Amino acid sequence: MANLNKVKIMPDTLEPVDTRNAMPLDEDGQFELSLRPTRLAEYIGQRRAADNLKIFIRAALNRREALDHVLLTGPPGLGKTTLANIVANEMGAVLHSTAGPIIEKSGDLAAQLTALQTGDVLFIDEIHRLNPAIEEVLYPAMEDYQLDLMIGQGPAAKSIKLDLPKFTLVGATTRAGLITAPLRGRFGIVFNLDFYNHEDLTTIILRSADIVGAIIEEDGAKEIARRARGTPRIANRLLRRVRDYAEVDYDGRITIDVAKDALNRMEVDTFGLDETDRKLLLSIIEKFGGGPVGLGTISASIHEEKDSIEEIIEPYLIQIGFLNRTPRGRMVTTHAYQHFGINPPSASAFVPPPSLF
Ligand SMILES: Nc1ncnc2c1ncn2[C@@H]1O[C@H](COP(=O)(O)OP(=O)(O)O)[C@@H](O)[C@H]1O
Ligand SMILES: [Mg+2]
Repeated sequence: MANLNKVKIMPDTLEPVDTRNAMPLDEDGQFELSLRPTRLAEYIGQRRAADNLKIFIRAALNRREALDHVLLTGPPGLGKTTLANIVANEMGAVLHSTAGPIIEKSGDLAAQLTALQTGDVLFIDEIHRLNPAIEEVLYPAMEDYQLDLMIGQGPAAKSIKLDLPKFTLVGATTRAGLITAPLRGRFGIVFNLDFYNHEDLTTIILRSADIVGAIIEEDGAKEIARRARGTPRIANRLLRRVRDYAEVDYDGRITIDVAKDALNRMEVDTFGLDETDRKLLLSIIEKFGGGPVGLGTISASIHEEKDSIEEIIEPYLIQIGFLNRTPRGRMVTTHAYQHFGINPPSASAFVPPPSLF
């Protein structure tokens, strides 16, 4: 069948794919939505979270109770929103979605809470961005299914209590470190999602290719998986781009050679590192002799916020063994030096090559 997308890009002028910003792009949004698993059985990898969730959901269903509140943490694109949707589907519940920055006043949250029916799931994305006054409204709602509202102002103001139906709050955050202790403590179930291994990413890519009708060989899928920064959203996005190359410059079949050529032309390197990853590593290598160097210094040197370095950029670099966090600061490993074809300064920088994933 003719592919209407296939002339959308000009391979020679294509910009490098922004693999760090794993937030959904408009053009990819629809694509991503169509690939989002809706049931736990389709959710690939993250076995610890998925297997435990299955038990908790089954137990709650058996008891005819709402599922306990669930907090999902982890870098962008790992499947938090997907899992929130799945929780609602598996519970046979209605999902209400909102996000920390959208809830500006406590009245906004009160409106969301009073719209809930028994068993419904309220998903709050970027829950670390709730302002503290609004967070206070959540505490009694989560703990006792109660809403404390202030009506009126000044001396005439009075507080009223409303009973809420038993509901499940699913919170998601990329910044686990910014969740306050009282909020965190009110979640009965907490999952920290990890980067996916190459095998799971390969399965995800093959599944996605099947859904969109792309022709792909397993080795082609493996090559994309290797360069997807451990992230399903990036894997799906790369699949889409590689398919474009396959259809425009080849016979449409994504073989390992086609995948390699396409990914190289998109400047996605063999570890899936993007510009910011490279900037961080090269800055430590070139300006600080490979480290150790403090987070604040790195932040100033590459103009990135400390939080996003710690919670979005570094986790993957640590996972692939390119960076170590030591008590004295961050250190680049010999593995990273080798990747850039640079000689490590001295034996002291040597750290044994890690086993990948
Ligand atoms: N476990 C998974 N199995 C299959 N596909 C997944 C999985 N997790 C994520 N995806 C894919 O990646 C995309 C991004 O996931 P999403 O839940 O939006 O990430 P997050 O909310 O953590 O940023 C989804 O649309 C889906 O296609
Ligand atoms: Mg999300």
